[in-house]
Amino acid sequence: MDSYNNQHLYNNSAEGLKWKSRAKSPLIRQEQDIINLLDNKAASLIELGTGAGRIAYHLHLAGHTDITAVDYSDNLIECARDVHADTPIEFIKGDITTDLPGLNKKYDNIVALQQVLCFLSPADIKTALADIHNLLNTGGILIGSVLNFNSRYLINKFLQTITPQESNSIATIPWMKIGSDFNWKMLSAMTPKNIWFFEQQLLSLLKEAGFKDVKFFNRLDETNDDDECKHLYFMANKPEI
Ligand SMILES: C[S@@+](CC[C@H](N)C(=O)[O-])C[C@H]1O[C@@H](n2cnc3c(N)ncnc32)[C@H](O)[C@@H]1O
Repeated sequence: MDSYNNQHLYNNSAEGLKWKSRAKSPLIRQEQDIINLLDNKAASLIELGTGAGRIAYHLHLAGHTDITAVDYSDNLIECARDVHADTPIEFIKGDITTDLPGLNKKYDNIVALQQVLCFLSPADIKTALADIHNLLNTGGILIGSVLNFNSRYLINKFLQTITPQESNSIATIPWMKIGSDFNWKMLSAMTPKNIWFFEQQLLSLLKEAGFKDVKFFNRLDETNDDDECKHLYFMANKPEI
Protein backbone atom coordinates (compact mmCIF):
# COMPACT_ATOMS: atom_id res chain seq x y z
CA MET A 1 0.00 0.00 0.00
CA ASP A 2 1.17 3.54 -0.80
CA SER A 3 2.62 4.81 2.47
CA TYR A 4 0.57 8.00 2.13
CA ASN A 5 -2.68 6.04 1.87
CA ASN A 6 -4.29 6.31 5.29
CA GLN A 7 -7.60 4.74 4.27
CA HIS A 8 -7.12 1.76 6.61
CA LEU A 9 -6.69 4.12 9.58
CA TYR A 10 -9.87 6.03 8.80
CA ASN A 11 -11.82 2.81 8.30
CA ASN A 12 -10.72 0.76 11.25
CA SER A 13 -8.94 2.55 14.04
CA ALA A 14 -9.10 5.15 16.75
CA GLU A 15 -8.45 7.77 14.06
CA GLY A 16 -11.74 6.79 12.35
CA LEU A 17 -13.58 6.74 15.69
CA LYS A 18 -12.22 10.18 16.49
CA TRP A 19 -13.70 11.70 13.31
CA LYS A 20 -16.95 9.75 13.79
CA SER A 21 -17.34 11.32 17.20
CA ARG A 22 -16.86 14.75 15.60
CA ALA A 23 -19.73 14.43 13.10
CA LYS A 24 -21.51 17.44 14.59
CA SER A 25 -18.64 19.10 16.49
CA PRO A 26 -18.44 22.88 16.19
CA LEU A 27 -16.17 24.49 13.66
CA ILE A 28 -13.08 26.22 14.98
CA ARG A 29 -12.85 29.98 14.42
CA GLN A 30 -10.52 29.72 11.40
CA GLU A 31 -12.83 27.19 9.69
CA GLN A 32 -15.86 29.40 10.33
CA ASP A 33 -14.02 32.49 9.03
CA ILE A 34 -13.07 30.79 5.78
CA ILE A 35 -16.47 29.23 5.04
CA ASN A 36 -18.00 32.68 5.64
CA LEU A 37 -16.13 33.77 2.49
CA LEU A 38 -18.48 31.54 0.45
CA ASP A 39 -21.33 34.00 0.40
CA ASN A 40 -23.42 32.58 -2.47
CA LYS A 41 -25.49 30.04 -0.55
CA ALA A 42 -27.26 28.80 -3.69
CA ALA A 43 -23.95 27.88 -5.38
CA SER A 44 -23.25 24.18 -5.82
CA LEU A 45 -20.54 22.95 -3.48
CA ILE A 46 -18.54 19.77 -2.91
CA GLU A 47 -16.53 18.99 0.21
CA LEU A 48 -13.54 16.69 -0.26
CA GLY A 49 -12.47 14.39 2.60
CA THR A 50 -15.65 15.06 4.56
CA GLY A 51 -15.02 12.36 7.17
CA ALA A 52 -18.26 12.09 9.16
CA GLY A 53 -19.58 15.22 7.47
CA ARG A 54 -18.76 17.83 10.13
CA ILE A 55 -17.86 20.66 7.72
CA ALA A 56 -20.64 19.77 5.25
CA TYR A 57 -23.11 19.85 8.14
CA HIS A 58 -21.99 23.35 9.18
CA LEU A 59 -22.18 24.52 5.56
CA HIS A 60 -25.78 23.27 5.59
CA LEU A 61 -26.47 25.14 8.86
CA ALA A 62 -24.92 28.26 7.29
CA GLY A 63 -27.58 28.10 4.57
CA HIS A 64 -25.82 26.37 1.67
CA THR A 65 -28.44 24.44 -0.24
CA ASP A 66 -26.57 22.30 -2.79
CA ILE A 67 -23.95 20.26 -0.92
CA THR A 68 -22.18 17.07 -1.98
CA ALA A 69 -19.51 15.55 0.25
CA VAL A 70 -17.02 12.81 -0.60
CA ASP A 71 -14.70 10.57 1.42
CA TYR A 72 -12.87 7.31 0.70
CA SER A 73 -13.64 5.73 4.06
CA ASP A 74 -16.71 3.42 3.94
CA ASN A 75 -16.91 3.64 7.69
CA LEU A 76 -17.00 7.45 7.83
CA ILE A 77 -19.30 7.92 4.82
CA GLU A 78 -21.81 5.50 6.36
CA CYS A 79 -21.60 7.40 9.63
CA ALA A 80 -22.08 10.74 7.81
CA ARG A 81 -25.17 9.44 5.95
CA ASP A 82 -26.61 8.17 9.21
CA VAL A 83 -25.89 11.19 11.46
CA HIS A 84 -26.91 13.78 8.85
CA ALA A 85 -29.89 11.86 7.42
CA ASP A 86 -32.20 14.79 8.17
CA THR A 87 -30.21 17.10 5.83
CA PRO A 88 -30.23 17.18 2.01
CA ILE A 89 -26.42 16.69 1.88
CA GLU A 90 -25.42 14.01 -0.64
CA PHE A 91 -22.61 11.85 0.75
CA ILE A 92 -20.68 9.80 -1.79
CA LYS A 93 -17.81 7.38 -1.44
CA GLY A 94 -14.81 8.29 -3.54
CA ASP A 95 -11.06 8.70 -3.57
CA ILE A 96 -9.95 12.18 -4.55
CA THR A 97 -6.79 10.80 -6.16
CA THR A 98 -8.75 8.71 -8.68
CA ASP A 99 -12.49 9.38 -8.69
CA LEU A 100 -12.96 13.11 -9.28
CA PRO A 101 -12.90 12.90 -13.12
CA GLY A 102 -15.77 10.37 -12.91
CA LEU A 103 -18.17 12.75 -11.15
CA ASN A 104 -20.86 13.79 -13.58
CA LYS A 105 -21.22 17.37 -12.36
CA LYS A 106 -19.05 20.48 -11.91
CA TYR A 107 -19.26 22.66 -8.81
CA ASP A 108 -19.20 26.39 -8.07
CA ASN A 109 -17.25 25.92 -4.83
CA ILE A 110 -14.91 23.23 -3.53
CA VAL A 111 -13.97 22.81 0.13
CA ALA A 112 -10.97 20.76 1.33
CA LEU A 113 -10.59 21.68 4.99
CA GLN A 114 -8.45 19.94 7.60
CA GLN A 115 -5.62 17.74 6.46
CA VAL A 116 -7.11 16.24 3.31
CA LEU A 117 -4.66 17.53 0.69
CA CYS A 118 -1.86 16.67 3.15
CA PHE A 119 -2.62 12.97 2.67
CA LEU A 120 -1.76 13.02 -1.01
CA SER A 121 1.66 11.75 -1.98
CA PRO A 122 3.94 14.16 -3.84
CA ALA A 123 3.06 12.15 -6.97
CA ASP A 124 -0.72 12.38 -6.41
CA ILE A 125 -1.06 15.99 -5.32
CA LYS A 126 -0.43 17.48 -8.78
CA THR A 127 -2.99 15.24 -10.48
CA ALA A 128 -5.51 15.77 -7.69
CA LEU A 129 -5.18 19.58 -7.86
CA ALA A 130 -5.58 19.46 -11.64
CA ASP A 131 -8.70 17.27 -11.18
CA ILE A 132 -10.03 19.68 -8.52
CA HIS A 133 -9.46 22.59 -10.92
CA ASN A 134 -11.37 20.69 -13.65
CA LEU A 135 -14.19 19.93 -11.22
CA LEU A 136 -14.73 23.66 -10.58
CA ASN A 137 -16.96 25.80 -12.76
CA THR A 138 -15.20 28.88 -14.12
CA GLY A 139 -15.56 31.69 -11.61
CA GLY A 140 -15.46 29.02 -8.88
CA ILE A 141 -13.64 29.10 -5.55
CA LEU A 142 -11.54 26.50 -3.76
CA ILE A 143 -11.06 26.91 -0.01
CA GLY A 144 -8.92 24.62 2.08
CA SER A 145 -6.32 24.13 4.72
CA VAL A 146 -3.09 22.17 5.04
CA LEU A 147 -0.62 21.52 7.81
CA ASN A 148 1.88 24.35 7.94
CA PHE A 149 5.49 23.20 7.94
CA ASN A 150 6.56 26.39 9.65
CA SER A 151 4.52 25.51 12.73
CA ARG A 152 7.07 22.79 13.44
CA TYR A 153 8.71 25.25 15.63
CA LEU A 154 12.37 25.31 16.77
CA ILE A 155 13.81 22.14 15.24
CA ASN A 156 12.56 23.16 11.86
CA LYS A 157 14.35 26.46 12.19
CA PHE A 158 17.62 24.56 12.45
CA LEU A 159 16.76 22.13 9.64
CA GLN A 160 15.71 24.92 7.33
CA THR A 161 19.19 26.32 7.56
CA ILE A 162 20.67 23.07 6.25
CA THR A 163 17.93 21.72 3.93
CA PRO A 164 16.25 23.24 0.87
CA GLN A 165 12.76 24.58 1.71
CA GLU A 166 11.09 22.72 -1.14
CA SER A 167 12.26 19.33 0.05
CA ASN A 168 9.30 16.99 0.52
CA SER A 169 11.48 14.63 2.50
CA ILE A 170 11.85 17.02 5.40
CA ALA A 171 8.16 17.87 5.24
CA THR A 172 7.24 14.31 6.25
CA ILE A 173 9.66 13.82 9.14
CA PRO A 174 7.71 13.22 12.37
CA TRP A 175 8.40 16.36 14.31
CA MET A 176 8.99 16.65 17.99
CA LYS A 177 7.10 19.88 18.46
CA ILE A 178 3.98 21.48 17.06
CA GLY A 179 3.92 25.12 18.07
CA SER A 180 5.04 25.01 21.69
CA ASP A 181 3.71 21.51 22.43
CA PHE A 182 5.48 18.17 22.28
CA ASN A 183 4.02 16.15 19.41
CA TRP A 184 3.16 12.85 21.14
CA LYS A 185 1.69 11.53 17.90
CA MET A 186 5.17 11.15 16.46
CA LEU A 187 5.47 8.03 18.66
CA SER A 188 2.47 6.26 17.13
CA ALA A 189 2.30 4.12 14.00
CA MET A 190 -1.51 4.53 14.10
CA THR A 191 -1.41 8.18 13.23
CA PRO A 192 -1.91 9.20 9.59
CA LYS A 193 1.15 9.99 7.56
CA ASN A 194 0.90 13.41 5.99
CA ILE A 195 2.80 16.23 4.38
CA TRP A 196 3.38 19.57 6.08
CA PHE A 197 3.43 22.28 3.44
CA PHE A 198 5.58 25.31 2.91
CA GLU A 199 3.41 28.23 1.84
CA GLN A 200 5.51 28.75 -1.31
CA GLN A 201 5.27 25.06 -2.18
CA LEU A 202 1.46 25.10 -1.95
CA LEU A 203 1.29 28.35 -3.90
CA SER A 204 3.34 26.85 -6.75
CA LEU A 205 1.20 23.69 -6.82
CA LEU A 206 -2.04 25.71 -6.93
CA LYS A 207 -0.72 27.97 -9.69
CA GLU A 208 0.53 24.99 -11.68
CA ALA A 209 -2.97 23.48 -11.51
CA GLY A 210 -4.37 26.73 -12.97
CA PHE A 211 -5.63 28.52 -9.84
CA LYS A 212 -5.31 32.30 -9.56
CA ASP A 213 -5.63 34.93 -6.83
CA VAL A 214 -4.42 32.61 -4.08
CA LYS A 215 -4.83 34.13 -0.62
CA PHE A 216 -3.45 32.66 2.60
CA PHE A 217 -4.93 33.05 6.08
CA ASN A 218 -3.79 32.11 9.58
CA ARG A 219 -0.14 32.51 8.60
CA LEU A 220 2.05 31.36 11.43
CA ASP A 221 2.75 34.05 13.95
CA GLU A 222 5.56 33.02 16.25
CA THR A 223 3.84 34.73 19.17
CA ASN A 224 0.78 32.56 18.58
CA ASP A 225 0.92 29.34 20.60
CA ASP A 226 -2.61 28.39 19.58
CA ASP A 227 -2.62 24.76 18.42
CA GLU A 228 -4.61 25.84 15.38
CA CYS A 229 -1.64 27.83 14.12
CA LYS A 230 -0.48 24.52 12.67
CA HIS A 231 -3.01 24.93 9.83
CA LEU A 232 -2.46 27.21 6.88
CA TYR A 233 -5.79 28.24 5.30
CA PHE A 234 -6.15 29.33 1.69
CA MET A 235 -8.64 30.47 -0.92
CA ALA A 236 -8.00 30.21 -4.68
CA ASN A 237 -10.05 31.11 -7.76
CA LYS A 238 -10.66 29.61 -11.16
CA PRO A 239 -11.19 32.85 -13.05
CA GLU A 240 -13.37 33.36 -16.12
CA ILE A 241 -11.07 33.15 -19.13
C1 LIG B 1 -8.54 14.87 9.11
S1 LIG B 1 -10.01 14.12 8.48
C2 LIG B 1 -11.03 15.57 8.21
C3 LIG B 1 -12.50 15.28 8.11
C4 LIG B 1 -13.39 16.51 7.85
N1 LIG B 1 -12.93 17.29 6.72
C5 LIG B 1 -13.48 17.36 9.09
O1 LIG B 1 -12.80 18.39 9.14
O2 LIG B 1 -14.24 17.01 10.00
C6 LIG B 1 -9.45 13.76 6.82
C7 LIG B 1 -10.45 12.99 5.99
O3 LIG B 1 -9.94 12.93 4.64
C8 LIG B 1 -10.27 11.66 4.12
N2 LIG B 1 -9.34 11.38 3.01
C9 LIG B 1 -7.99 11.33 3.06
N3 LIG B 1 -7.48 11.04 1.85
C10 LIG B 1 -8.55 10.91 1.01
C11 LIG B 1 -8.68 10.60 -0.37
N4 LIG B 1 -7.61 10.34 -1.14
N5 LIG B 1 -9.92 10.55 -0.91
C12 LIG B 1 -11.02 10.78 -0.14
N6 LIG B 1 -10.97 11.07 1.19
C13 LIG B 1 -9.74 11.14 1.75
C14 LIG B 1 -10.13 10.70 5.32
O4 LIG B 1 -10.85 9.49 5.13
C15 LIG B 1 -10.68 11.57 6.45
O5 LIG B 1 -12.05 11.36 6.62
